[in-house]
Amino acid sequence: MANSEIVVLKDAAALSFKAAEILVCCISETLARKEQFSIALSGGSTPKGLFSLLVEDDSFKNHIPWDKIHFFWGDERHVPPQDEQSNYRMADEIMLAKAHVRAENIHRMQTGQPDAGKVAQDYELELRTFFQLSAGQLPVFDFNLLGIGPDGHTASLFPGTKALYEHNRLVVANWVERFKTHRITMTAPVLNNADTIIVLVSGQEKAEILRQILEGDHQPDLLPAQLIRPTHGRLTWLVDQAAASRLSQKIRLFKDFSQVDEIAAIKPKGFEK
Ligand code: 6PG
Repeated sequence: MANSEIVVLKDAAALSFKAAEILVCCISETLARKEQFSIALSGGSTPKGLFSLLVEDDSFKNHIPWDKIHFFWGDERHVPPQDEQSNYRMADEIMLAKAHVRAENIHRMQTGQPDAGKVAQDYELELRTFFQLSAGQLPVFDFNLLGIGPDGHTASLFPGTKALYEHNRLVVANWVERFKTHRITMTAPVLNNADTIIVLVSGQEKAEILRQILEGDHQPDLLPAQLIRPTHGRLTWLVDQAAASRLSQKIRLFKDFSQVDEIAAIKPKGFEK
């Protein structure tokens, strides 16, 4: 089983900064040995801080060879790209447009078309083409960025939904009854096959679900984020203090959080070795 750790940061700003450090370091290490870098982005609000740091902060913006990076999405809402719900639109407005990323490096899901199943098929073909996959082969993203929802979902793998059990397809249209819509999502085998997986978790409202995911019984049907188990890569949970507030490990020993950005790095249940 690949190595995994939880890194606790003081707050959301420290969380974004740490994520930017890890990403930029990963980009330069990867591009030292190959021509291009592939990243699967998450949506939602948590990565916004990271995306803006990468284009606004001097420590990062000049150290990123944007023309060598190919951007994909781990999941997307079934809405047109100009919709405010669009994960593509969020990343484009905050980062891609400001970094003048070339259109051919932006691999967004074609969610403007009405048939969600077709959107998923087309995106699977896009992955097979970009990664030059043969039958049965999985893509290997250099970097996979994920988040978790207060219900324990990750990407668009929601509790009790069909996509949780998909092991052959790379991308599926997943009906989410709660939203009465499809979400298009990469499947767990693809999400787990990345070289580096970072899960960003911020805020008190995520504390209880994070405790259940990391320290509770293994029940991925109810807690899909538990499906995130890297096949060969490195998994890091980047968590801020508020989200870590219910974890029972040695974090509680650290009384004064103001001095350090990085509070602790611990191994989640089942990854102690
Ligand atoms: C999406 C995401 C989703 C997200 C979580 C957390 O499309 O919404 O990819 O998996 O990571 O819902 O969202 P927040 O960061 O907004 O809490």
